Amino acid sequence: MTHYKLAFLGFGNVGRALAELLLRKRAELRDERGITFSVTGIATARHGMVANPNGLDLTGALDLLRTGRPLTLLTNSLVSDSLDFIRKCGADVLFENTPVNYENGQPAIDHVRLALENGMHVATANKGTIVHAYRELRDLAAARGRKFYFESTVMDGAPIFSLFREALPGATLKGFRGVLNSTTNLILTRMEDGDSFDEAVRYAQEIGIAETDPSGDIDGWDAAIKISALATVLMDSPLRPQDVRRQGIRAITPQMVAEAKAQGKRYKLVCAARRIGERLEASLAPELVPVTSPFYGLEGTSSVIEFQTDVLGDLTVLEANPGPQTTAYGLLADWLNIAKL
Ligand SMILES: NC(=O)c1ccc[n+]([C@@H]2O[C@H](COP(=O)([O-])OP(=O)(O)OC[C@H]3O[C@@H](n4cnc5c(N)ncnc54)[C@H](OP(=O)(O)O)[C@@H]3O)[C@@H](O)[C@H]2O)c1
Repeated sequence: MTHYKLAFLGFGNVGRALAELLLRKRAELRDERGITFSVTGIATARHGMVANPNGLDLTGALDLLRTGRPLTLLTNSLVSDSLDFIRKCGADVLFENTPVNYENGQPAIDHVRLALENGMHVATANKGTIVHAYRELRDLAAARGRKFYFESTVMDGAPIFSLFREALPGATLKGFRGVLNSTTNLILTRMEDGDSFDEAVRYAQEIGIAETDPSGDIDGWDAAIKISALATVLMDSPLRPQDVRRQGIRAITPQMVAEAKAQGKRYKLVCAARRIGERLEASLAPELVPVTSPFYGLEGTSSVIEFQTDVLGDLTVLEANPGPQTTAYGLLADWLNIAKL
């Protein structure tokens, strides 16, 4: 049996979904993989931070938050801030799931750096860490003999980074095309069913997919960040979101959507990157896709990506109906991939 001490920095939608998944898989991990775990730290911004190397009651933590009570009722071993938390939690693996900071990736970058310096492996769903500090954190992890994995940063739990890391040795990625932003795909799908642009945005907000200020999705910033993350890691080409040629979906009208439908086509916000000589060209814009495209059947919040490699031709990964549960699986997979090394 191998025992792991796990810590959660950020215990919102994703952190809690991961906690539920770990509890559900606990017996299976023990019986089929010989892995046991305890949770030695849980940190939030407004609901308390607790650390105890002897272990915390994970089910109790979920119950406390479900009933609006602070985590500090779990233990006397309190911590003052997130950096103090990392130093005191005594974990082998830190799950960093604080909100993404699009501008500079902080404080998540500091969290990952300190965790690696303190000998922990790190798994994160936070895109800011790889868009703003991938090479530094990758090199730091290598220097410390630790792993820094981030499967859930793009397309939730679908295997993207591990696909290239584990399953496609020796393959070179020449480019990719994909539909990577759930909110805009949902809005365009709703417009096909008769919603106006504003009604479709409101619907996406009501079901909790779009932010109160949806401009990050509609104007393509979220998609640009995902392109940056993919290009930075998989094509070894550090790319800033502002370097992606970007056109969002604001100009798409119900009339354009209806005309496309009449021609048997659909609008999709297509993300693309490709290497041209030494240069990397990256863009995103609404495209009319025909019924023959792998993007055509994509409904609601689903995502798809098509990779062009030098060995397999086009390879497509499609993720249907993602959510915090699928994001949580990407983090579980990161940990299990760390554990098998
Ligand atoms: N939701 C998804 O399906 C999804 C998919 C892919 C990637 N992601 C990424 O996963 C990460 C987490 O997303 P989420 O939906 O779980 O967000 P969320 O529900 O807002 O949860 C964020 C958590 O981080 C805590 N937090 C915020 N600032 C902190 C700080 N400085 N120190 C310690 N804790 C802090 C929050 O505390 P409080 O609880 O007190 O507010 C909360 O527990 C984000 O980076 C997001 O982009 C999410």
